[in-house]
Amino acid sequence: MTIPDLETLRALGPAQQPAYDDPAAVDSAVARLRTMPPLVFAGECDDLKDKIAAVSRGEAFMLMGGDCAETFAGVTADNVRNKLRVLLQMAVVLTYAASVPVVKVGRIAGQYAKPRSSDFETRAGETLPAYRGDAVNGFEFTAESRVPDPQRLVDVYHSSAATLNLVRAFVTGGYADLRQVHTWNTDFVRESPIGQRYELVAAEIERALTFMQAIGADPDEFHRVDFHTCHEGLLLDYEHAMTRIDSRTQTPYDVSAHFVWIGERTRQLDGAHVELFRHIRNPIGVKLGPSTSPDDAIALAERLNPDNEPGRLTFITRFGAGKIRDGLPVVVEKVTASGVEVAWVCDPMHGNTFEASSGYKTRRFDDVIDEVQGFFDVHRSLGTWPGGVHVELTGDDVTECVGGGEDLLEMDLGNRYESVCDPRLNRVQSLELAFLVAEMLRARSD
Ligand code: PEP
Ligand code: CO
Repeated sequence: MTIPDLETLRALGPAQQPAYDDPAAVDSAVARLRTMPPLVFAGECDDLKDKIAAVSRGEAFMLMGGDCAETFAGVTADNVRNKLRVLLQMAVVLTYAASVPVVKVGRIAGQYAKPRSSDFETRAGETLPAYRGDAVNGFEFTAESRVPDPQRLVDVYHSSAATLNLVRAFVTGGYADLRQVHTWNTDFVRESPIGQRYELVAAEIERALTFMQAIGADPDEFHRVDFHTCHEGLLLDYEHAMTRIDSRTQTPYDVSAHFVWIGERTRQLDGAHVELFRHIRNPIGVKLGPSTSPDDAIALAERLNPDNEPGRLTFITRFGAGKIRDGLPVVVEKVTASGVEVAWVCDPMHGNTFEASSGYKTRRFDDVIDEVQGFFDVHRSLGTWPGGVHVELTGDDVTECVGGGEDLLEMDLGNRYESVCDPRLNRVQSLELAFLVAEMLRARSD
């Protein structure tokens, strides 16, 4: 497989690309990126593909999570550590409940570009170009900041590299030690009234760990974890510049992340995103919204994974709590009947967004949980495997989604609303979600 030229992709008129006013500056940013070393190795992408193949066989569960939109200013040690910590805590709970490995994939170290439903944003009578993520323009609502700046593509690389460096240090350097992560979970259970509801599961995990130590399980096995990165592969200039021929296999990989996905708004079968993605060898995902027909899904699978390679393709469904039970069954049923190999992952966030009366974009915790429950119900009735969840979250105590055990109200949203794009589950809501999904996983095997 070769890499299609960037010109060929541009000629396909890709959706959701920035309207740069200086094409020469874009070309020079792309040229600079082409000289930069890979952020991930092709062999690591293959490892993740093998793990996702286990997900599609029902032998593993996938946890994908992180910000809707990372920001350059958010590349701090605290921020990265808190996000990683909550993901690791969730993974331990899910691993115990699922009794299968949990494949951990952070929406991190590259999630800087956003598709938008409108090209413009109006505030107090003033209309400016929409914010498209730090990869494109500034969040600040001024004409100057909203101009797309190609230099930001190079900044994405550096911010991703700095983040990934810290993530790699954390996951291999002892921070992710299973006993340590379990201690954070028991702290959550002990210290908060919400956590107390999950005391039983935490106590069972404690006993399991003690048992493993008693029988002499290798402590090194507890000490490090596998962790991979993902983001939406939205900006073709960036993703193309980061696509390289792997020296081992002579095939193309997008070395900006282990896993990249095509969003709901850019998954046109004859579009530029599908064209680039069908050439790369990474494990990839496609977001599927409620308008997806079974034929759309099968056609995407045939185009993106013609050899039906296990682990290559993940469908991330985001139907919304109100639509999943009616809409998802026919898609899963027909895709399965067609023999297509795919891992099914539930994004319970993007179909459940609404605007609160205060103007903040938010989501109800109960809707998020209900969509995951609907996802489990649908897969249970079809005899297929609910392969994982894909959530927008942060390790901080933000107030962006309403509900949950802390019962955040719409009037609380302004207290600490920090997302520059979609509302994220905060630390406590994320842990609650993990314990609730754990209950769903256990109910499944009862
Ligand atoms: C996202 O994941 O932030 C996103 C924009 O999702 P979708 O493509 O499903 O709308
Ligand atoms: Co989002």
